[in-house]
Amino acid sequence: MRRFRTDLTYADVTPKEVFLNRRALLRGAAAMGAATILPLPAAARDFAGGETPNTLEDIKAYNNFYEFGTGKDDPAKYAGQMTIDPWSVKVDGLVDRPGTYDLADLIDEAEVEERIYRFRCVEAWSMVIPWNGIELSKILNKFSPQPGAKYVAFETLERPSEMPGLARSNIDWPYREGLRMDEAMHPLTLMGTGIYGEPMPKQNGAPIRLVVPWKYGFKSIKSIVRISFTDTQPPATWNMLQPREYGFYSNVNPTVDHPRWSQATERRIGDGLFAKRRPTLMFNGYEEEVASLYAGMDLTKFI
Ligand code: MTE
Repeated sequence: MRRFRTDLTYADVTPKEVFLNRRALLRGAAAMGAATILPLPAAARDFAGGETPNTLEDIKAYNNFYEFGTGKDDPAKYAGQMTIDPWSVKVDGLVDRPGTYDLADLIDEAEVEERIYRFRCVEAWSMVIPWNGIELSKILNKFSPQPGAKYVAFETLERPSEMPGLARSNIDWPYREGLRMDEAMHPLTLMGTGIYGEPMPKQNGAPIRLVVPWKYGFKSIKSIVRISFTDTQPPATWNMLQPREYGFYSNVNPTVDHPRWSQATERRIGDGLFAKRRPTLMFNGYEEEVASLYAGMDLTKFI
């Protein structure tokens, strides 16, 4: 199995403390005369306004990954049986370099960064997650998209022998998602490769998954095996299933409710059941960075 990080592991320590103080630890190790210090990445870049990240335990225990079932604990229970090595990604459509790429050819470890993002699910729960990943644009540019490519579409692995949830017949598998090209190329959009310096846990979408922090979580498609460049808006799983409830854009927007519930507030996982809900921020707090992508669009219509 390819490892994206060879430095500290976080499982048994208070995540935030260690995570944010690795440089201090590194200095400490150096001061102690440690002969070989494994390469440490630069400190995490905090895009969540200093909010405390969720524990790795929470991030791995409360998931949506319908290929393994609809319960929040199904992915943790069943994703372990997914084989992720070898892993390849088929690239097709409007690109100059289509083909089937081995994971190692897509992910350059030197480009992996660590970023703390707010992550908001459409079901009105949220987490703060320290992701490892590479800006998606860096990966997409390797394929030389053609000028006619206006959208990019993604598909998840579909392997019934390892994914008990595929027996659900109302979803037209594989899980699919898409972004407009400018959204895909935006510097906040990551191809996630890990969490807290660990390779991506299987229940979180190993080995590679999208992380689009200003959109509801279902846009962040997991365990990607296909990337296609298109000139028309591609199909997206939840949009196909319930177009009135889940639009193609799915930008986090506290002023536009889901037809069956409010989107104005959210419950932060880890806050406890009786904690006060938090107000949801426009574009999940990334308004300054991304609002210009939607200039002139009626966001009550383009949900
Ligand atoms: N990707 C696939 N392939 N299958 C899924 O069911 N669920 C989505 C998204 N990506 C899903 C998926 C939803 S609804 C959410 S909220 C996030 O994954 C959850 O990501 P997490 O489990 O890593 O927190």
